Amino acid sequence: MVNVLGNNLKLILNNALFSNNMRFVYNTKINNLVSKFMCTGFCQQRFYSSKRGIILGIETSCDDTGCAIVDVEGNILGEALKSQHLIHLNNGGIIPPIAQDLHRKNIEHVVYEAIKVANVSFADIDAIATTVKPGLPLSLLIGLRYGKHLCREHKKPFMPIHHMEAHALTARMYDKNLQFPFLVLLISGGHCLLAVAEKVDKFLLLGESIDDAPGEAFDKMARRMKLKNIPEYSQLSGGQAVELAASKADDPLEYKFQIPLLQYKDCNFSLAGVKNQVLGHLIKEERKKDVLADGVIPGVNNLCAGFQLVVTRHLCHRVQRAMEYVSRKQLIPLDKKTLVVSGGAACNNFIAKGLTIICDELGYKIVRPPPKLCTDNGVMIAWNGVERWKENIGMFTDFEDIGIEKSSPLGERLIEDVANENIRCKWVKLSKLNYPQNKSDD
Ligand code: KG4
Ligand code: ZN
Repeated sequence: MVNVLGNNLKLILNNALFSNNMRFVYNTKINNLVSKFMCTGFCQQRFYSSKRGIILGIETSCDDTGCAIVDVEGNILGEALKSQHLIHLNNGGIIPPIAQDLHRKNIEHVVYEAIKVANVSFADIDAIATTVKPGLPLSLLIGLRYGKHLCREHKKPFMPIHHMEAHALTARMYDKNLQFPFLVLLISGGHCLLAVAEKVDKFLLLGESIDDAPGEAFDKMARRMKLKNIPEYSQLSGGQAVELAASKADDPLEYKFQIPLLQYKDCNFSLAGVKNQVLGHLIKEERKKDVLADGVIPGVNNLCAGFQLVVTRHLCHRVQRAMEYVSRKQLIPLDKKTLVVSGGAACNNFIAKGLTIICDELGYKIVRPPPKLCTDNGVMIAWNGVERWKENIGMFTDFEDIGIEKSSPLGERLIEDVANENIRCKWVKLSKLNYPQNKSDD
């Protein structure tokens, strides 16, 4: 209520101070005056721009320092990305203070590089969007502080962005025909979730990971299998290495795995058990074949293939149940059934093939942004800013109290409701998914 009064007061003052054809972009004096009448904390305000709308986005939630400038039509005017991947690969995983130092070292250069490529100045930019949740706190803090610093210096509104929401909405930049509502599977290094995206800022959460996310499981297993000691894989992420090794399997069904959570009629995910099964096979093989400390087991390709297959089948099961739930509750119109797949592990072509089979069978269109947009980047943050700009939501001039959040659920939680529906699925056969040898495991 106070915010609404404040907004109205701002509009009145604005109209009084500016001529008719001069539209309000941003005015500190008005904001200061209005804020005296408004609540403490975040004050959301309306912004009007005579320009087409250009948003600068900053991403530092994990180990990529990204910045991009995107306009209201979804044109990427400029972008820059500095990955810390190789450093963390050599350290055997992300060490948060090291990630923070690298973000600190790189952020300014990355932002100015994106601006240079876009050939714009800060005067052309309407707002600054920055990832504030969820993510590694030390990493998030660098983006938050730098984003706020730019807003203060250039008198721009600040847009706090939810990293997973940004992964989901990127699909609407990639596919301009994609409309709400749609089903979305987000599979990344830190998260695994299924949701219905109803609006830019409205999601229904159907399922989430109860332990390791897919990217995390791939990374941990690749590390344990010592894949980076194979020169061809030495610079790849865990997921990329497992996918490549699996593609070379001569007996992809050699190692059998139990599909997780089969007895649970929900849409949650779990990969900790699969990880232990892989580990069991690995230790047995290492002993049997007398593998040296930094050596790789001879059957590593087959092990990767089995691992990738069980992850894919698990994801497909949960997606199929989510589709059945969506149809029971009529959450998506029959002629608009779309599954968006995004996040780093969505780069995996084998997983995508499995999901495509499910989509074909249940009449869904599948939208998967290209790898560059699936993994962390500044474009997705800027685009989320654009989506919010268009809806006139989530822009703050009083942003000092906005902080970071290590974890943050996405949208309204329907996980228990999904389980209560007790949906039994007749699993879609994934035999078409077989590796080249074409053996069936269904
Ligand atoms: O979305 P993202 O860039 O960062 C997070 O928000 O976590 O995802 C990174 C994750 C890493 O764990 C990486 O191993 C995984 O995405 N990844 C893949 C593939 N490419 C990257 N996982 C499976 N298959 C791939 N081809
Ligand atoms: Zn991500």
